[in-house]
Amino acid sequence: MSETVIKVEGLSKRYRIGAREGYKTFRETLMEAVRAPFGRLAGIGKAVPEAETVWALNNVSFEVKKGEVLGIIGRNGAGKSTLLKILSRITEPTKGRVELRGRVGSLLEVGTGFHPELTGHENIYLYGAVLGMDRNEVSRKFDDIVEFAEIEKFIDTPVKRYSSGMYMRLAFSVAAHLEPEILLVDEVLAVGDAAFQKKCLGQVGKVASEGRTVLFVSHNMGALETLCRKGILLESGGKVFEGGIHETVSKYLAKNHETSANPLSDCVRLGNGKIKVVGFRMESPEGEVLKAVKSGGPVVFCFQFKNIACGNGERVSFSVSVYTDKEYGLFHYYSHFSGVYFQDLPEEGWVKCFLPELNLSPGNYFVVSYATVGGERADWPQVFLPMEVVGSDFFGTGNPNLSTWGPMLVKGKWFSAL
Ligand SMILES: Nc1ncnc2c1ncn2[C@@H]1O[C@H](COP(=O)(O)OP(=O)(O)OP(=O)(O)O)[C@@H](O)[C@H]1O
Ligand SMILES: [Mg+2]
Repeated sequence: MSETVIKVEGLSKRYRIGAREGYKTFRETLMEAVRAPFGRLAGIGKAVPEAETVWALNNVSFEVKKGEVLGIIGRNGAGKSTLLKILSRITEPTKGRVELRGRVGSLLEVGTGFHPELTGHENIYLYGAVLGMDRNEVSRKFDDIVEFAEIEKFIDTPVKRYSSGMYMRLAFSVAAHLEPEILLVDEVLAVGDAAFQKKCLGQVGKVASEGRTVLFVSHNMGALETLCRKGILLESGGKVFEGGIHETVSKYLAKNHETSANPLSDCVRLGNGKIKVVGFRMESPEGEVLKAVKSGGPVVFCFQFKNIACGNGERVSFSVSVYTDKEYGLFHYYSHFSGVYFQDLPEEGWVKCFLPELNLSPGNYFVVSYATVGGERADWPQVFLPMEVVGSDFFGTGNPNLSTWGPMLVKGKWFSAL
């Protein structure tokens, strides 16, 4: 039986709206760690009117065993960072408790962690002290840390003068090299260039392979699926799923059946109006409604139409166009390009367009629909329908696709032709 190293029970965190709680300084965190090394963090309830507060985390419980790499998934504001901040003692829970066994290294968002007035050099030793390491142990790792972070020249500069990239590189390097038994990693892939992101992922993987416990927060599904074996899904502060990482990612990608506003129900349209596109959604080939598509994954674009005045036998062609967030058109695909015309459509229904491989880089895109009847423009809703593409192992090499050199991805064969 492997040992439980993190036990979270009924963890809740309430924030006051508007009044952002100041982060503790590094020294405060250090002092607390010294005072209560790896003991229990008990919740402290304070009376604040409910209306002015938000539950960033609500009654979350889970356990992590030694050596597990757990992915924490959720939309913006789901409570992921709040959870890691509580585990790393940057903030206290309102209710519930946490038991941690082992020294915790955390790599949270830029801006927490280091003491701004101290140099990189001094911060490395301080961080070591928080982890309970002695100076000799830290000294043995020092050169590796500096080299990995690529900040040799700035090691004696106060970290407040660092660019956010330099800061993050140092923070990452310290957290990953100083051998914490539990490593908390929050969105490291959001900062830094592709080469550094890759290096970070490699290092997190190395930490994991050494049998240390890692909690990994990312919006990159490819990175999560590469690194983690298990996952938990947070929604509005609550844990809604826990299981294998692939299943957790699928749950995240599947859209909730919440009734969000339909941008096509009331919009400006161009065209003669013989047919109207009134609804849009994306589905998996199995018919599950998706809120995001994996890079290179299959997708079915579904358009709901209303047949207003198409004559008998008139030929209807629908099209789907995809634009980048800079409104640059990437492709336009009419059904008639594939020789498909729709005729004698009912008063209302759906037409669907299946793409076996959506070869787009991770990012935010827009879908635009268009319909012609008898070759004339019938409907062109003036709406950009948002579509999110998330990273995945596009090339099947075991590496998630992190970088974006451009919106399109291609794959084929490389060979030497000597
Ligand atoms: N210091 C704070 N004061 C007030 N509200 C906060 C504070 N920190 C977080 N919140 C709120 O708590 C909720 C959860 O935030 P949290 O940062 O944990 O989400 P997240 O899952 O990390 O999101 P993201 O993916 O955007 O990083 C949000 O509604 C957020 O606005
Ligand atoms: Mg966050």
